[in-house]
This record gives sequence, C-alpha cells and structure tokens, in this order.
Amino acid sequence: MTADSSPSPAVVDALEPYVAPERIARIDGVLNQRLASICAVMEDVFDPHNVAACIRTCEGFGLQDVHSITNQHGHRISSTVSKSADQWVDIHRYDSTQAGVEALRAAGFAIWVSDLQAEKTLDELPVEGRIALVVGNAVDGISDAMREAADQRYILPMHGMVQSYNLSVALAISLQSIVPRRRAQLGVAGDLDPQRRWALRRRWLELSVKNADVMRRVLEAR
Ligand SMILES: C[S@@+](CC[C@H](N)C(=O)[O-])C[C@H]1O[C@@H](n2cnc3c(N)ncnc32)[C@H](O)[C@@H]1O
Repeated sequence: MTADSSPSPAVVDALEPYVAPERIARIDGVLNQRLASICAVMEDVFDPHNVAACIRTCEGFGLQDVHSITNQHGHRISSTVSKSADQWVDIHRYDSTQAGVEALRAAGFAIWVSDLQAEKTLDELPVEGRIALVVGNAVDGISDAMREAADQRYILPMHGMVQSYNLSVALAISLQSIVPRRRAQLGVAGDLDPQRRWALRRRWLELSVKNADVMRRVLEAR
C-alpha cells in the first residue's frame, strides 16, 4: 500500500457514514500511535513468510513505513502470515541497496544495521532523529554495501547455542528497545504529520467499508 492511493475527499465523506463509530474510533486511536520517525528495512529478504512476519511486527509496534530492498530476489509477502498487516502500512520497494540507502538518506533517516559482526548493543545507542532499522536475510545476513552505509551497527546479545535470531525476531527485539524510548521522548505515542494522518485516515476508512471499490466507482461516476 502507498499513501498516494488514497481515495478523493469527496468519496471518503460519502463512505464515512457506512463505517461503524467503533471502527472510526479504532482508526483514530491507531493513527494517534503511528510513528513515522522510525522505519524498518528488509535487505534482500526473499522468504515471503519472513517478509510478512516483519511487516506484521512493524504494524504491531505502530510503524507506518517498511522498506524492502531486493538485490537478487522479488518482493513477495505471505498473506497468511501478514494477517493483512500490509494493508495498514506503506511498503517502499527498491531494486538495490544503493537505491534504498539513497532514498532513506534523502528522507533524513540514519541507517542502523542489525549485524552479527557488530560490537555495540542497541541499548548503548542514543535514540536521536529519524532512524531506519535494517535487518538482513536469513542466509547471507547484511551486505557489505549496507554495512558500509550504516551510521550505526549493533548486535543483539544472545545467550544460547544458536548464533542468530530469526530476522523478524531480531526486528521485534530492536523495536522493543527503541520504540518506547522514542515515544518517551515525544511525550505522545505517535508522530504522523497532519497531512499524512489525514491521507491515511481516508485510506483506512475506505478499507473499512465492504464493497468500497464498487461504491467508490459509483460515487466517482456521479
Ligand atoms: C538469521 S540472521 C542472518 C544470519 C546470517 N547467516 C549471517 O551471518 O548474518 C538474519 C538477520 O537478522 C538480524 N539478526 C539476527 N540475529 C541477530 C543478532 N543477534 N544481532 C544482530 N542482528 C541479528 C541481522 O540483521 C541478520 O542479518
């Protein structure tokens, strides 16, 4: 889903009466907790189940943006694992690590890479500014290009016999470290700017109306 696929304001005004008040309250409550200043990046994650698990994790933590870089593999999401979480977030796709890094930098994100070769732990890093958290794929991990682009690299300490977490678990542990710190800094749960919040609200309302696509076509044809 991308934010620019929102329906027109007139169509949403017409659809809103068809959405239950409890549903509208839920949408507004979740939007109030949406974070745009932290995002997640999957580098070359090719297993659709892992992609879906990461998206579901991000959505649950209240992130709005998930970036998917594929150097060698296509972008595929398992809908049984995502539980439709991909409907509620914006997924940004890139064909190379360089393209992803450039876009994230242009959007003002510092690049924090979870990396088994790192020495610092995440808890040692100060949570400042916009942060993109990167996880690598299950086989190769993080690429050298991403490692070089990183503003920070961190390791999640492990205490068992296996050497790494599943990447969606690594992402969840990372988010559990930095999201509460960001929310404490903000003093509120979310930081969407008003324009984006409004566009998302329109999109989510449309997602909440049964047969909205049919109604939308009828309304737009009037
Ligand atoms: C299954 S691991 C990749 C293992 C891969 N064989 C390697 O050597 O990196 C998938 C991704 O999850 C993240 N990850 C998993 N466990 C981690 C840990 N203990 N510390 C930091 N990142 C971790 C990293 O981003 C890693 O690239």
